[in-house]
Amino acid sequence: DLAAAPGGKTAHMAELMKNEGKIYAFDVDSERIKRMKQILRWVGVEIAEVRKLDGRKAPEVLGEEVADRVLLDVPCTSDGTIAKNPELRWRLREKNIPKVVALQRELLESAWKLLKPGGRLLYSTCSMLPEENEEVVKWFLERHGDARLVPLSGPYDEGFLPGTMRAWPHRHGTIGFFYALMEKKSD
Ligand SMILES: C[S@@+](CC[C@H](N)C(=O)[O-])C[C@H]1O[C@@H](n2cnc3c(N)ncnc32)[C@H](O)[C@@H]1O
Repeated sequence: DLAAAPGGKTAHMAELMKNEGKIYAFDVDSERIKRMKQILRWVGVEIAEVRKLDGRKAPEVLGEEVADRVLLDVPCTSDGTIAKNPELRWRLREKNIPKVVALQRELLESAWKLLKPGGRLLYSTCSMLPEENEEVVKWFLERHGDARLVPLSGPYDEGFLPGTMRAWPHRHGTIGFFYALMEKKSD
């Protein structure tokens, strides 16, 4: 889990894994990591190793092709959460989008290195902007012949790239969310 704090998805994965196996949960934000540690303790997660680490460094630290699954819930503009965080509209700046997209691409490259052949990577954002979603995934697929999109169908809508998925606040009563599942071919 390369951008893990405050750990809601780490906890959910640990539950799905029945607290067996191992999750590496990385983040760069000390305050959010503190909160994550508390949350994971409260809900009884025993299999997560939480570290303050830039996700881009993860392959150097853990090695390459070591993970069966990677969750990359990237840092994003979070514009899908405007209903929950209305003040965000005053902080969103179009000029910041390329910077966050560059980070998303770099994190995705690192996440891919970590993945074993045959493994799967879920890329997700709480953004509604195609720049942070379908365009990042298209960019990645064009550069990685060993990557294939595993089509997602429901419970939300198809994204603008077939096989990806989007949750829409006005349609699903959720925050705006994007998901793309990719598999590393094992030839
Ligand atoms: C969308 S939030 C993660 C939410 C988390 N997955 C959850 O479900 O609770 C994105 C996270 O990425 C972290 N982040 C930003 N840059 C990072 C980097 N270079 N490496 C790792 N984490 C990073 C932020 O601190 C933030 O906690």
